Amino acid sequence: TLSASSPLRKRDLVVVSNREPYVHSRTDDGIAVERSAGGLTTALDPVLRRLGGTWVAWGSGDADAAVADDGTVRVPPEEPAYDLERVFLAESTVEDYYYGYSNSTLWPLCHGDLGRIRSEPSHWPAYERANERFADAVVEGVEGGDPDPIVWIQDYHFALLSDRLRSRSGLPDAATIAQFWHVPWPSPDAVRVSPHARELLEGLLGNDLLGFHLPAYRRNFLETVDRLLPGASVDREAGIVRSEGTGSSEPERTRVYARPIGIDVSSARRAESTEEPSSVFEDYELDPGRSLLLGVERLDYAKGIRERLRAFEHLLETEPRWRESVTHLMVAGPTREQVPEYRRYQRRVREQVAAINARFGTDDWTPVRHVEAAVDWERLLALYRAADALVVSSRRDGLNLVAMEYVAANAGGTGTLVLSELAGASEILEGAIEINPYDVAGTAAAIDRALSLEIDEADEAQERLESLSESVRRHDVGEWVRSFDREVRALATDAAARGDA
Ligand code: F6P
Repeated sequence: TLSASSPLRKRDLVVVSNREPYVHSRTDDGIAVERSAGGLTTALDPVLRRLGGTWVAWGSGDADAAVADDGTVRVPPEEPAYDLERVFLAESTVEDYYYGYSNSTLWPLCHGDLGRIRSEPSHWPAYERANERFADAVVEGVEGGDPDPIVWIQDYHFALLSDRLRSRSGLPDAATIAQFWHVPWPSPDAVRVSPHARELLEGLLGNDLLGFHLPAYRRNFLETVDRLLPGASVDREAGIVRSEGTGSSEPERTRVYARPIGIDVSSARRAESTEEPSSVFEDYELDPGRSLLLGVERLDYAKGIRERLRAFEHLLETEPRWRESVTHLMVAGPTREQVPEYRRYQRRVREQVAAINARFGTDDWTPVRHVEAAVDWERLLALYRAADALVVSSRRDGLNLVAMEYVAANAGGTGTLVLSELAGASEILEGAIEINPYDVAGTAAAIDRALSLEIDEADEAQERLESLSESVRRHDVGEWVRSFDREVRALATDAAARGDA
């Protein structure tokens, strides 16, 4: 709940993200609408449902499906509450802006995997073009409406958007522009690698408010600005950056804050009334007499899937008692397949799974089961509850909501979390068995310990889960939205104190 004086309640809200919350497609039976999976839809769809507003996103479905005369669509279909404004991009722009600059440069850069950066001359211009297109769409959405709308941009696809918005005449002067960066912000030395580092920073400083999950990312950002933008002045303590403004624009002031997103704890708990955990044993041909180690992620190198498989293999090598008594079920569907690095990674993961199964498998035991098909939410909750342990082995991760979902789905029951200390979630979750995914023997030992806890140290397992549940509750997604609301309010208080308003 937001307070009565909340800016989000009083002012028009425009959310911008790359992924759309609902995808419309034309089928033989009419128009099909699918709600997107993923943390962003879970976090922001309920907010817009309640407050109304506009969500601007890349139109990844059929352009002619469900379009009103003005080009917008009302969603959700069962109870229309807000406008979805879809930005349709040419295939070549998607190729260069989304698969290219966003996911072949920014993603590896922000995740500290500099060797995986692949850059083509067409990537950056397309990224600029897409940001321009979104700026036009946002202005169209706010023109003639509320004189002081709040525009809330999401993620790394739009580093230039706030700056481009500032240069549009249709944007009301009193608009607040804010952005949340959902991936890590790396060290200044990593950012320096980019030939566009300055443009990225200047682009982001068009925001009045800029949010990161963790204080460490915020610190890195402030330090990066301090080192790479000599014209900007940075107050690291207060998290305020004053920049020169670009081109014809005025000097700007950006407030930088940190607050992690969370999950909708109540929807993960509802598991108890839905699918039975036992059903998944049959569906995935699992033997309930064996321990179940679960992994859930997109097939992304940042998730450390290969490191984890190596650790699991090491466990079977060094602790033979686990042979035939544990199954590792990996729910890891393909993602971003147009990016060569991702295709290569997929191939290697499949080969590694096959090699482990060939080496250790028996007639009635497959050590690793890899599920590549999408798993719906109810089924996922049943899997979370059926698993003795979940392992998150990210090499780097902005936060990791899967860890939180696992905890919430098992609250009051059993289940141990093995969590990479390189995932942002490890900063806020207490009670996990932590691993460094590059430490093969250490990760194998942590998995061994987690599975053993579930068998013969129920008290410790329960204590860990209680403490984890408490941290997940404290970081419920509602708290993330309320913190944004408070930050927007603080902007107005700051401005009043300076005599600007
Ligand atoms: O972690 C940041 C994030 O933008 C998430 O919202 C999402 O899980 C992922 O990265 C983006 O995935 P995709 O490229 O499939 O939209």
